[in-house]
Amino acid sequence: MAFDSPDVQNYARGLEGVIAAISAISAIDGQEGKLVYRGIDIESLAEHSTFEETTYLLMFGDLPTRDELANFTMDLKEKRDVPHEIIDILEKLPHDAHPMDILKTAISALGTFDPDKDSDTRGSRIRKAIRIIAQVPTIVAYTHRISEGLEIIPPSKKFSHAKNFLYMVSGEEPNERDAKIFDIALILHADHGLNASTFSSLVTISTLSDIYSAITSAVGTLKGPLHGGANERVLDMLAEIGTPDNVENYIKEAVEKKKKIMGFGHRVYRAYDPRARILRKYAEMLATERNERSCCEMANRIEAVMKELFEEKGIFPNVDFYSGVVYRWFGIPKRLFTPVFAIGRVSGWVSHVLEYLQANRIFRPRAIYNGPIDVEYIPIEERS
Ligand code: CMC
Repeated sequence: MAFDSPDVQNYARGLEGVIAAISAISAIDGQEGKLVYRGIDIESLAEHSTFEETTYLLMFGDLPTRDELANFTMDLKEKRDVPHEIIDILEKLPHDAHPMDILKTAISALGTFDPDKDSDTRGSRIRKAIRIIAQVPTIVAYTHRISEGLEIIPPSKKFSHAKNFLYMVSGEEPNERDAKIFDIALILHADHGLNASTFSSLVTISTLSDIYSAITSAVGTLKGPLHGGANERVLDMLAEIGTPDNVENYIKEAVEKKKKIMGFGHRVYRAYDPRARILRKYAEMLATERNERSCCEMANRIEAVMKELFEEKGIFPNVDFYSGVVYRWFGIPKRLFTPVFAIGRVSGWVSHVLEYLQANRIFRPRAIYNGPIDVEYIPIEERS
């Protein structure tokens, strides 16, 4: 008998090194610590682009003309409102539920209200994608306000994607500089090759399911602490450490106990994550400006201890190490850090989904079966 016993040598635990798709969206040079979107260096995009423009680039392959960008930006602004039934759902869900669980539920529900829900043309998929990108920040901000017992603040068409989100969370118009830094953080999170959540969105869409289902899968995947959930855990760790003097003992003890240090390590990078480098710069700048450097000092010491322990192994800070340290300054509470990751990454998810559908094939890997065979069925009355 030949049950699933494929070539053991082909087994790649966690699909490490497996090529599962062909994509022109983003690429990582893990040795050099480089990341490009559609060939453009992430540093250049962070410096010159906007989240709206980067999203257009990821989705359609080229930088937009002035008119294309204006239309795309307007389209995103006009699609920000969510149906009132979604607000009802947000209000009914437990107010202490994690915002990622609420986001997952809300995106799934949104699909049932989409005016294009019965259409599966490329045009309708793009419209759905833009609605999802536009509405994720609204859902996250509403979730926060509702959980705090505050009035929700409807989106404002006056503001950019990034600025509008900060405004919907706090009710105050952020200054241009802070909105710009937050916009950069969204750009940095927008795509990252075939990461776990993007892959799960592709697995779902590969069955020719709908884009809302694909994004729901992605949100559920991003939530885990080994992926997007790490940013929230970094702040927990900093709180546990308490002061810079405690760093060395804390990290060494944790490593000795084989605990993973959140915000460090990556499947692909063996160098400093370029996104972490950019966020670090802003974390430092904001902390110095506000004269509250304790978090940054702890982070610097953690980096130094981790370098001593792990430099040879190629374990460096990843994007999640500094993102929360930056978000705190904008009044974004810790529980929103991973949803904020989703606000950025949703651009990458929909881009990969749209791309994959152009040459779709269902994902169907195999497992090495290591269970028993030829086991006899024992009737229930004869079982001990
Ligand atoms: N702290 C301590 N040791 C680590 C860490 C870490 N953060 N990351 C990896 N290692 C060690 C690990 O213990 C293992 O050691 P050994 O070879 O002795 O068994 C070795 O490095 C390889 O680790 P791995 O877990 O097999 O690597 P992976 O590629 O399967 O996992 C990872 C990658 C990101 C899940 C992992 O590095 C990790 O758990 N990091 C902490 C969580 C985190 O920060 N996640 C965010 C990732 S970046 C943003 C994103 O894409 O979501």
